[in-house]
Amino acid sequence: MQLIAHLSDLHFGQSNPEMTAAVHDQLEKLQPELVVVSGDLTERARRGEFLQARDFLSSLPGRKLAVSGNHDVSHWSMFGPLTNPMRRFRRWVEADPAPCYHNAGMLVLGVNPARHDTDQIHLTAAEAESVRKRLCSFKEPLFKIVAIHHPFDLRECYAQRELVGAARLTLEKLASCGADILLTGHFHHGHASGSVSRYQIPGRSTLVVQAGTATSLRSGSQPNSFNLIRLEPPLIQVEVLGWDPRLATFATLTSNTFKRTPGSGFQMETSFPH
Ligand SMILES: [Fe+2]
Ligand SMILES: [Fe+2]
Repeated sequence: MQLIAHLSDLHFGQSNPEMTAAVHDQLEKLQPELVVVSGDLTERARRGEFLQARDFLSSLPGRKLAVSGNHDVSHWSMFGPLTNPMRRFRRWVEADPAPCYHNAGMLVLGVNPARHDTDQIHLTAAEAESVRKRLCSFKEPLFKIVAIHHPFDLRECYAQRELVGAARLTLEKLASCGADILLTGHFHHGHASGSVSRYQIPGRSTLVVQAGTATSLRSGSQPNSFNLIRLEPPLIQVEVLGWDPRLATFATLTSNTFKRTPGSGFQMETSFPH
């Protein structure tokens, strides 16, 4: 069994220190193989916020893979517009614009669109094709996982315009190369679904795992949360841990197990081996 901790929308600069410490302590106990952060590590892409993010990530156990969010793009500095709006993110969080982690059981690709400083983004056809090729270059039975800040698929209560542009085309490309899981963030609202998709992609579906915000003071209608993803082929368990203010820790909110079924995507299962 392999364990991934999926954090998102940490928003250092407007984060809750008690929650930050609790995430650290819980991951220290859990010892995940990999910590994936799906963007918005900072609130306003300030230097001090990135330094907090860097120190926090380096304090966590396991390998790290982070992609940037719209809040991590620098627009201005005291010297005028930054020539490279991703400079701080690259310097202090993740130097590789296309980070990758793989071992015998999983492949995780991080995707950073060239321009994503607003709520709405799209991957260009060339960017989507590049991700597809990277996925295809690894042969199954690996679990193939893609991390990106903005969502490709959401529950029906969200509008189409809130998704990544050309989301269906891109999802079809990724699914054709066996993308099993998409890890996303941005809305500060978590959910996981393998079957409730607005897209019916023939022959394959991808489990969409949306993380809430782990530590932001702007948590919206859900408590702050992060995800634990356990991989035990052909099963994937997605456990959502939500903030419990009485206990001052994160406790299980939901836990769902999905079974990868060749040719028909994922089905819900009732148990996961521990
Ligand atoms: Fe955010
Ligand atoms: Fe965002």
